[in-house]
Amino acid sequence: MGRLDGKVAFVTGAARGQGRSHAVRLAEEGADIVAVDLCRDIGTVDYPLATPEDLAETVRQVEALDRRIVARAADTRDPAALRAVLAEGVAELGHLDVVVANAGIAPMSGRPKLQAWSDVIDVNLIGSINTMQAALPHLGAGASIIATGSIAAMISNETSGNPGGDPGGTGYMWAKRTLASYVHELGRTVIPRNIRVNAVHPTNCNTDMLHSRPMYRAFRPDLENPTREQAEEIFPTMQGFAVPYVEPGDISAMVVFLASDESRYVTGMQMRVDAGAYLKLYDWHV
Ligand SMILES: NC(=O)c1ccc[n+]([C@@H]2O[C@H](COP(=O)([O-])OP(=O)(O)OC[C@H]3O[C@@H](n4cnc5c(N)ncnc54)[C@H](O)[C@@H]3O)[C@@H](O)[C@H]2O)c1
Repeated sequence: MGRLDGKVAFVTGAARGQGRSHAVRLAEEGADIVAVDLCRDIGTVDYPLATPEDLAETVRQVEALDRRIVARAADTRDPAALRAVLAEGVAELGHLDVVVANAGIAPMSGRPKLQAWSDVIDVNLIGSINTMQAALPHLGAGASIIATGSIAAMISNETSGNPGGDPGGTGYMWAKRTLASYVHELGRTVIPRNIRVNAVHPTNCNTDMLHSRPMYRAFRPDLENPTREQAEEIFPTMQGFAVPYVEPGDISAMVVFLASDESRYVTGMQMRVDAGAYLKLYDWHV
């Protein structure tokens, strides 16, 4: 018996990385999946985003578990597209119980600078809000909404340095911080409907986003073109524990818990999966 038997979960950014890991782990626990991913690049993001083949691989992995999946290429910046995918998904799978607003970009040092600022706010903040709001009409009592923030939401220029040191980096931090605030307010708003809303805040996570030129530059602003090895020298300084990053599965474990009825009285929480990064960066702050 799975922890999510009979549930249907909507996951964005599901073609690879954390999103694929969430879709597969939720399916392993018995959920059917509605999955979307942009499946194309964004000009200000200096690393390739997922491809249609990546999304097809997520479909293959979910179906290998004997779960059903409706997967479509869609942009979370386009609310009409999200509504259409959800209408299709709910028609096919019957209902919707879980939302994982996970899609995101990291356009640190992206050019043109102000376009990078706009893009990261559009995807990481507005796109996540679009995801949750497109899902709301389908959700009833017992539903669970989960938004992917970042430990970057909780750090500041003073404590950590600004990732990217430019509008793409500050936009990333501000978008994640404001998403955390939205989660709090949405949680208050849907309490009467018995719907839960929580955020998960990962530290460095072992995905293509972390292993990218913009991230390497953010961690090694002292170098012109840092290599993976040079960035990895700095990765462990972020966390309290002596690890360079966590794995997508570590974040999925929290997502499965928040999606399941085990967390039925947990709402409005900002769940850090950060290997002690916050404790390391803050002396005392609750
Ligand atoms: N990797 C890290 O170190 C880290 C740390 C903290 C938070 N996060 C957050 O975790 C989430 C998942 O990122 P990841 O680490 O798996 O990186 P990733 O780049 O592997 O995955 C992100 C996915 O989102 C998709 N996507 C981007 N823009 C989209 C859009 N407009 N519409 C639909 N899909 C879109 C991409 O194609 C990609 O498949 C993001 O919100 C990210 O900001 C990542």
